[in-house]
Amino acid sequence: MAFPIHRKRRLRASDSMRRLVRETWLEPAQFVLPLFVCEGDDVYKPISSMPGQAQMSIDRIVKECREVESLGIGGVILFGIPAHKDETASEGYNPDGIVQRAIRAIKQECKKLVVITDVCNCEYTSHGHCGKVVGNDVDNDASLVWLADAALTHAQAGADIVAPSDMMDGRVVAIRARLDGAGYTNIPIFSYAAKFASCFYGPFREAAESTPQFGDRRSYQMDPPNAREAMHEMQLDLEEGADMLMVKPAMAYLDLIRAAREQFPVPIGAYQVSGEFSMMHAAAEKGWIDLERVMIESLTSIRRAGADIILTYFAKDAARIL
Ligand code: PBG
Repeated sequence: MAFPIHRKRRLRASDSMRRLVRETWLEPAQFVLPLFVCEGDDVYKPISSMPGQAQMSIDRIVKECREVESLGIGGVILFGIPAHKDETASEGYNPDGIVQRAIRAIKQECKKLVVITDVCNCEYTSHGHCGKVVGNDVDNDASLVWLADAALTHAQAGADIVAPSDMMDGRVVAIRARLDGAGYTNIPIFSYAAKFASCFYGPFREAAESTPQFGDRRSYQMDPPNAREAMHEMQLDLEEGADMLMVKPAMAYLDLIRAAREQFPVPIGAYQVSGEFSMMHAAAEKGWIDLERVMIESLTSIRRAGADIILTYFAKDAARIL
């Protein structure tokens, strides 16, 4: 007979008691803040659907990174908004492109901050798809060349980690081969391995100006109902040489974070995406939810599910509270 011998409330009686038996902790070092870098000088262009987030020019990004570093946040992930987009995503792999210049500037000022780059074509193509469009679809193998070229230019500029997010087959091995061939054997690949064709990316596409001009991304990003397939994607990326795996979005895919944690030995990241962030803000603005508490509770749930690293737009706010 469990009761009255067991009374679970004993260990919940006070803040100190709850703290003593807490199973899951958040640390700023586990957070990665996504940043959007654009051309210009002293540009700070707020993203209306993502409160507190903005497109920033390189000088402002460097300032932001100093603050991020001083808060003890683990790292940043950079997304570029080029002045010029074309069919071949050429600014994505331009050694003097917006992201490549931003990396150099950040690395000069913030020696300790881990700088991750998002490797994808969609911000750089005029049609907004993640690769080379042939007919009505994205040609897989032709797109790999651009991705490998982009990853190499990021590494050459000083990126610490490259993170491919396009969901083409074989991009991890293509990037690994290109990096190794140029002597960048020590640059890790953080693969967006289980990335779903999710409607939670809506606000990001405004932020990164990367909405597909026709069709959608369902022929390359994963179908949300599929869990076994996600495990296979992650396994294949590990075989191709991924050093870290990511599940994206986070909150609607906590089961996969847990499954990945149990099955794979490498660090697991989860991306709390723009839609998750903006929904919480919107509800808070209406007075329906407490923003600070929902932020911490949602981040905690992602850690409890098993993520080591969380990419989150809340990184600075959460780090200040912790
Ligand atoms: C792009 C990319 C996307 C996100 C990160 N990298 C958008 C997409 O695939 O459409 C989404 C991030 C977010 O919603 O916060 N390649």
